[in-house]
Amino acid sequence: MTTAKPPPSVLVAGSANVDFIVRTPHIPAPGETVLGGDLTVTPGGKGANQAVACARGGGVATAMLLALGDDPFAPLIEASLRDAGVDLRVVRSTRPTGAALICVSDEAENAIAVAPGANATLAPADLTDLAGVAGLVLQFETPMATVTAFAKKARAQGVPVILNAAPAAALPAELRAAIDVLVANEEELVVLAGRDGTIAERLRSLDVPCAVATLGARGCCALADGAYWLQPAFPVAPVDTTGAGDTFCGVLAGALCSGAPLADALRRASAAAALATTRLGAQASAPTAAEIEALLHGRQPDESALAGLAAYCGVTEYNLAGRPAGQLSDPA
Ligand code: RIB
Repeated sequence: MTTAKPPPSVLVAGSANVDFIVRTPHIPAPGETVLGGDLTVTPGGKGANQAVACARGGGVATAMLLALGDDPFAPLIEASLRDAGVDLRVVRSTRPTGAALICVSDEAENAIAVAPGANATLAPADLTDLAGVAGLVLQFETPMATVTAFAKKARAQGVPVILNAAPAAALPAELRAAIDVLVANEEELVVLAGRDGTIAERLRSLDVPCAVATLGARGCCALADGAYWLQPAFPVAPVDTTGAGDTFCGVLAGALCSGAPLADALRRASAAAALATTRLGAQASAPTAAEIEALLHGRQPDESALAGLAAYCGVTEYNLAGRPAGQLSDPA
């Protein structure tokens, strides 16, 4: 008798927080007090947000390795992950569950302060098994030594590594050497590659097989195998951008690990991230696969958005995400 093997899954190893969110007219300046709306307490953390986005929007089997405290906040996070269909590997810590204080402005911008707590205790030895893992997703809310050790373990076993370089931190050389896909927003790209040069040039300087810059309302730009890929943002009315980058990463990872070409994965991830900005919260705002499909077949970014994105990134020859390579380049 043969035992059926479980389907390959995406493993997210990283952070989970409880998010304490308050909406205010604007983000307080240093020393300023701003009165806002009622407090919302909701599950978050970059790693957990990515796991939920991957499972809910990517339609792919997803597991998460995370460290939680032994306190009343841990069950909130575990329930959210389980409800999304994420298989959990929990390391119980003596430190409190991670927490984030988030201020969301009426312009949908945010400012976040994180108390890592249990996330800071995730250790290299906690990743014991990569059997059946089609891709490992990492972020920078757990110790750099742990992130590096996890990435090296995955590389040694031939498991692709997708790193979201958030929050911004420099990339150790041994970690860079173990990355297959690197995703960074504009601020993170400054820390990774400096301020000099265009987005395109700075992506090239990262020297990883695939580098993706997420550029908020402009869209995203990727460099893989020497070719640039552009995807303008899908037009939506944003309410809260918290977790949009995490949704992008989770859905991108799910698509790539399911075998989707980069072009399709970028387009799905962009649609998912756009949808995530239309709702309050991080995990709560991650869309379902059906919602992503609907947007992919709905209102599309226009040609001027594409031209603007190309100019902003400093690329003249590129492929358009969602179409085969070579179908569209240099619109000038
Ligand atoms: O990226 C958004 C996340 O950053 C929030 O959920 C918060 O917990 C912080 O980790």
